[in-house]
Amino acid sequence: MKVSLVGYMGSGKTSVGKQLAELMGLGFIDLDEYIEVREGKSIQEIFSENGEIYFRKLENELLKEVLSEKSFVLSTGGGTPSFYNNMDLINRNSLSFYLHASPTALAERLKQGQIDRPLIAHVAPEDLVEFIAKHLFERNAFYQMAHESIATSNRSVEEVVSVIH
Ligand code: S3P
Repeated sequence: MKVSLVGYMGSGKTSVGKQLAELMGLGFIDLDEYIEVREGKSIQEIFSENGEIYFRKLENELLKEVLSEKSFVLSTGGGTPSFYNNMDLINRNSLSFYLHASPTALAERLKQGQIDRPLIAHVAPEDLVEFIAKHLFERNAFYQMAHESIATSNRSVEEVVSVIH
């Protein structure tokens, strides 16, 4: 069984993915972590030292590598679906779920994790909801390509896991 989770930063891909993998007896892979281990650098370091274009190329290459494995629950990065033909690759090689959440719910969850995420690290807290709303508008067409869409705004991690499972 191959399952992929897609969605914006803060949508719960990693927390949901870990629990789901355990429940299904599958290995869990976090694409960001996979990239960090391979490069020996954090995501922030890759962005600041090599730039986003380098990161996206690496993300596409390592995504293909992960998708060729026999079984997994994969948590992708928030931007993964919107670069190269990544969403098509994900759909052809796994069952994909889009974890949907409102800009307000995402902003609330991302307040703590802004620092670790180069694309939103410098957004002022009061501008976060509007920034996310615009960013989501650009990325929505890709997220919507997922096989299933799941609303997560008012659900706990456990609830989202049980909807998928
Ligand atoms: C990104 C999301 C991050 C990480 C990188 C870029 C994005 O992953 O891949 O900072 O473009 O939305 P998470 O969604 O796990 O935070």
